[in-house]
Amino acid sequence: MDFELRATEPSDYDTIATWIQDAVSCSRWAGPLVPFPFSARELPELLSVKGGSSYSLAAGNNRCIGFGQFWVVRQGSVHLGRIIISPEARGVGTGRLLCKKLIAKAIQETDAARVTLRVYRDNAPALSLYSSLGFAIIESESTDKLLLMSASNAEQGVMSAD
Ligand SMILES: CC(C)(COP(=O)(O)OP(=O)(O)OC[C@H]1O[C@@H](n2cnc3c(N)ncnc32)[C@H](O)[C@@H]1OP(=O)(O)O)[C@@H](O)C(=O)NCCC(=O)NCCS
Repeated sequence: MDFELRATEPSDYDTIATWIQDAVSCSRWAGPLVPFPFSARELPELLSVKGGSSYSLAAGNNRCIGFGQFWVVRQGSVHLGRIIISPEARGVGTGRLLCKKLIAKAIQETDAARVTLRVYRDNAPALSLYSSLGFAIIESESTDKLLLMSASNAEQGVMSAD
């Protein structure tokens, strides 16, 4: 099946809202600024980040099966956030595909040389995915709970969309 990274459409938020079933998974996905429960209608506003871009991974029938955002934190550095895959589509490589496409899009749009993201230390699937993509933990900018991870052009494979 072909998967396309496209701009998030209003109806995608209804789909994404069904993937979040409890407060813990909500916080792991979107951080402390998105309360649980929320209504799908509120999501665009709750997820809005100044200067940020939102993208969805769509399956062949245009059905949204993944979502992620990026925004520039400082010149030359772009930050990824709110990465999520539909629960039914997890564990078969979809998250890796979404990340690669999102990274490629973020670099193309911002011309950043460095990509960062934050992940909770206890989020094993996400931590494993990001590590395997070449992201390294920056301990000096991490806390007991939340890791800052970074990758740059120097790290092989991170910036390629293949
Ligand atoms: C994190 C997430 C996006 C991964 O998506 P996915 O489609 O399941 O990931 P993939 O199938 O592409 O797997 C890629 C890698 O992730 C890791 N991974 C995936 N599921 C895992 C699991 N259950 N346990 C441990 N590692 C796992 C592995 O390293 C895997 O590589 P491998 O298949 O070569 O072993 C998905 O679990 C998710 O949406 N989680 C909820 C939201 C969230 O926590 N987002 C992260 C916010 S920082």
